[in-house]
Amino acid sequence: MLAGECGAAIQLAMEILTKIGDIYEAEEMIEIASAHTVMTPYRDIMDAGVEICEKFAKLGAKYSVPTTLDPAGMDLQRWRELKIPESYAEKQMRIVRAQEKLGGIPVWTCVPYLHGNVPMPGQHLGWSESSAVVFANSVLGARTNRLTAVVDMAAGIAGRVPKFGLHLDENRQGEILVKINVKSKFLTDADYPIIGYFIGKHVGDKIPVLTGIPRNVSTDQLKNMGAAMAASGSVALYHIAGVTPEAKTLTRILRKGVWEDTLELGTKELKQTKEEMCTTGVGEVDFIAVGCPHYSIMEIRKLAALLKGKKIHKGIKFWIYTTKYVEMLAKRAGYSSIIEAAGAQILTETCMLVSPIDIYGFKTLMTDSGKCAQYAPTLCKTEVLYGSIEDCVKTAIKGSLY
Ligand code: F3S
Repeated sequence: MLAGECGAAIQLAMEILTKIGDIYEAEEMIEIASAHTVMTPYRDIMDAGVEICEKFAKLGAKYSVPTTLDPAGMDLQRWRELKIPESYAEKQMRIVRAQEKLGGIPVWTCVPYLHGNVPMPGQHLGWSESSAVVFANSVLGARTNRLTAVVDMAAGIAGRVPKFGLHLDENRQGEILVKINVKSKFLTDADYPIIGYFIGKHVGDKIPVLTGIPRNVSTDQLKNMGAAMAASGSVALYHIAGVTPEAKTLTRILRKGVWEDTLELGTKELKQTKEEMCTTGVGEVDFIAVGCPHYSIMEIRKLAALLKGKKIHKGIKFWIYTTKYVEMLAKRAGYSSIIEAAGAQILTETCMLVSPIDIYGFKTLMTDSGKCAQYAPTLCKTEVLYGSIEDCVKTAIKGSLY
């Protein structure tokens, strides 16, 4: 492959992968079950990214393993209505066309594991998108490093990644014990992103092992906690004793049965961390953005119940980010009509952080996402308020902070 016997596109992909392998002293390549690429939003990958996508397409590259696509840099259907500049949209559509030629699976989402790219425990992957990587490693027990843009495309084309880091058993052991000292019956949906944010801040790129998370924790709670952990720190794998697949028991998952450090999180830390996640505590809110990671149908269902019969204040935009598939389900289930009647809008295949939100000049963004709270001040150029979805809805109706 590296010698060019399988064509120029595969040769280029292998050149990229072998360079990465050399840097990390990998001894061999390993075949992967799937890839997931972030070479998708123009806002992030810019002109150089467009050129790389088109270069691979021109060389005749095809993804050799199923490769799903992360969100695009705009709602691919409503972009005119949303006043996205033509010049930006034109570049975004060049990325779309190039990815189509490569055979990328157009889920345009950061939750590929809810949309057909569902690895089995122990399978090796070539994924990027920090929130998806941490979910695949921790909740599904699959194995992937946090790849970067371009390397993820190369992995999908070659169907291989260099074997290092989280592909190896010895690098998947827990390093820091995190005790959640809050009675599980008092943990709410809104606490999970806070827990994730707290852990990410304190552990950086270490592997935390959590105790105190109930066995009936939901997929969405884990999705939202992991995304926050991977954003405030760079966690790519966590274990929950007795819950996640590689953490059957605490002693088995902690490195050599011991740990480097112990963190404790109680109600006091929850409250303090929530405050840290906000850059302001007062004033008008003009933008409520939820769906980071993309909302599941369960989350849309909950939101529709909260919005039923209500009216959002006219000074507020309330945007919900999700996928085409979830949008279709929401329409069929009648959730979309409730949400739209209240004045909120479902947007698809993009999100608040990878689209050019700054063009609207919003001042204060409220969100139920820990990842969004971390990045919004720099990427959306707004003040940020973190709150539960219940508080987001109350604020939307009142027109200012609830
Ligand atoms: Fe997904 Fe955008 Fe958040 S890609 S995880 S919704 S930043």
